[in-house]
Amino acid sequence: MDFSKILKNKEHEGKEKHIPFIDIVGDENIVRVTVGKEIPHPNTIEHHIVWIELYGLKKDGQVVHLGKANFSPIYTEPDISFRISVKEFKALYALEYCNIHGLWENCIEIE
Ligand SMILES: [Fe+2]
Repeated sequence: MDFSKILKNKEHEGKEKHIPFIDIVGDENIVRVTVGKEIPHPNTIEHHIVWIELYGLKKDGQVVHLGKANFSPIYTEPDISFRISVKEFKALYALEYCNIHGLWENCIEIE
């Protein structure tokens, strides 16, 4: 058993959308991570996105934890922006935790 066994991705997606969508916004080094971009995920006490984390993979292979956002159900939507030096990284990885459906991952490669 390894950690990847509990990570879910696009292959596991059901009608509720959990994949953390990663978007580099313009040339401002803003990385926006959202969950439920197309179909909103529930945001109730009983069922909500608890947190999003962002990691960067550097060109030399080092993994950097770039940030984490915790969300308050009902009041805060899972939509967070980080200001980072994008050019330092060859890929960005996002993790997201839903209190019902577990851990979800996504990744983008940077050209
Ligand atoms: Fe969920």
